[in-house]
Amino acid sequence: ETSYENLLVEQHGAVTLVRLNRPQALNALNSAVLEELITAFAAFEADPTQRCAVLTGAGEKAFAAGADIKEMAQKPAADFYAEDTFSRWTSHFAKAVRKPWIAAVNGFALGGGCELAMMADFIIASDTARFGQPEIKLGIAPGMGGSQRLARAVGKAKAMEMCLTGRMMGAQEAEQSGLVARVVPLANLLDEALKTAAEIAAMSPLAAIANKEMVQAAFETTLDQGLLIERRIFQVLTATQDRLEGMAAFIEKRPAVWQGK
Ligand code: CAA
Repeated sequence: ETSYENLLVEQHGAVTLVRLNRPQALNALNSAVLEELITAFAAFEADPTQRCAVLTGAGEKAFAAGADIKEMAQKPAADFYAEDTFSRWTSHFAKAVRKPWIAAVNGFALGGGCELAMMADFIIASDTARFGQPEIKLGIAPGMGGSQRLARAVGKAKAMEMCLTGRMMGAQEAEQSGLVARVVPLANLLDEALKTAAEIAAMSPLAAIANKEMVQAAFETTLDQGLLIERRIFQVLTATQDRLEGMAAFIEKRPAVWQGK
């Protein structure tokens, strides 16, 4: 078991629960948090008993209030460029996780916090959740995907308005706009997210990865290429034992027993 300074990680059956745990800084995302998230999600990815993950924020106030402003405030521009700051969020985190995971947003998801939530396969939000890209108020702009993922999630009008004014969006508006899958009372958030994750974890793990991969392709490519990717992945799944089992179980009116083969 790895221990973390900025995360709490627990296994609930086949579901890995990861909590951002810097409540004194509203779970702001500094470089230590990033490295620990990379490690924790790599362990989730490598553990065949773990099938789905939930990421949430410790404390009732914030999922994450952004990239750590105190860490960035005095950093020279040349260092941002030399380190290609924020690139590891894509290359070593978002793109490195093939298994499904859910962001359970329990409060502020601002700047990098909103961007991190949008890296998840989907978001379940508490009724207290608030989303925003307030970077403009700091004289900067999003750097971890906000301008791209928010625009894809809610469309140009709202993405532009939010980036240009820095205003926050509440949970109801976020649901109506397609940013979040579902809103639940804060008191039920963790239970609901874990229950949904357990449902996903009970599916064939190959089918779960395949479904994730093809929906992701919809945001990366043209319709024609996406349809081809969908058919090819569909065809790959027909070669699995789980597909034979799933169809047989349906016909025999019994629950399927998945092998991940
Ligand atoms: N970085 C570092 N520390 C942060 C932080 C952040 N993003 N957000 C909050 N904190 C710290 C505060 O500095 C404060 O610490 P101290 O007690 O040591 O002063 C502590 O968390 C509690 O915060 P507040 O006292 O400000 O709490 P509040 O209830 O008055 O306000 C808030 C809450 C509206 C979320 C406010 O904290 C806020 O506006 N935070 C910054 C939000 C922001 O601008 N995020 C974007 C960051 S830039 C970015 O993310 C770039 C990118 O795209 C990658």
